[in-house]
Amino acid sequence: MEGLLERLASDPSLPRPWWQSDCTLLYLADSILLMSKFAEGSVDCIFADPPYRLSNNGITCQNGKMVSVNKGEWDRSQGLDEDFQFVVSWLTECRRLLKKDGTIWVSGTNHNIFLVGYAMQRLGFRILNDIVWFKPNAAPNLSRRFFTHSHEIVIWAAKSSSSRHVFNYELMRSLNRGRQMRSVWEIGPPQQGEGWQVERVNIGLDYLKVFPDRAKP
Ligand SMILES: C[S@@+](CC[C@H](N)C(=O)[O-])C[C@H]1O[C@@H](n2cnc3c(N)ncnc32)[C@H](O)[C@@H]1O
Repeated sequence: MEGLLERLASDPSLPRPWWQSDCTLLYLADSILLMSKFAEGSVDCIFADPPYRLSNNGITCQNGKMVSVNKGEWDRSQGLDEDFQFVVSWLTECRRLLKKDGTIWVSGTNHNIFLVGYAMQRLGFRILNDIVWFKPNAAPNLSRRFFTHSHEIVIWAAKSSSSRHVFNYELMRSLNRGRQMRSVWEIGPPQQGEGWQVERVNIGLDYLKVFPDRAKP
C-alpha cells in the first residue's frame, strides 16, 4: 500500500482524484470509463453501491412525512434489458480489475440485486454469500399492501470458481462475541458524530460548490 496512492494520484494516464486523504483516493467520474484506465488483475477487493433503479414514482415515509422515492434520473429504470446491460458493463470491468483471488461486494434491493446476481453468474463470478442487511429503523409501508421493506442484500462474490478468497474467520467470530458470524447483519443508522459521516458531509459540500445545480431540492 505504501507509495501506491502517491503513484496513482500522480499517474498522468489517470484522471486527477477529486479528493484524497492518507488512505483514500476519491474520483468523480463515470466508473466504467475510470475502471478501464486501471491495470487488469490489480485489485484485491471491490465494494459497489450501484443505482438500485427504485425511482419509479413511488412514495415513502421520511421523518413522519410522505415523500417521493425518486432520487434522480440516474436511478430511474431504463427497462430490464438496458438495466441488465449496464450491470454487465460495470461488472465486466470490475472482474477485469480483480486479482485471481479477489472478491467483490455489491449492495442492492429487489429492484436490482437479482439482475446483479444473474449477471455475476453469467460472467463467471462465484457467489460466496448473500448477506441480509437488516434495517431496524426501516420506514413504515404507507400503502399497507406490502410487507415493510426492512433490508438490503449484499452479494459477496469471488472472481471465479478457482479463486481462493480471504475470509478472516477468527476475526468475524470475535466480532460476533465468539459465535460464528451469520449472514443476517443488523445495521442501524449512523450515529451522530461518527467521524466518517462528518467527513462525507464535508466532501459533499465541496462537491456542491463545484456542481451547485446538482443539489437535491
Ligand atoms: C446507490 S447510489 C450510491 C450512493 C453512495 N454509496 C453514497 O453513499 O453516497 C448510486 C450512485 O451511483 C452513481 N452513478 C450512477 N451511474 C454511474 C456511473 N456510470 N459512474 C459512476 N457513478 C454512477 C449515482 O450518481 C449515485 O450517486
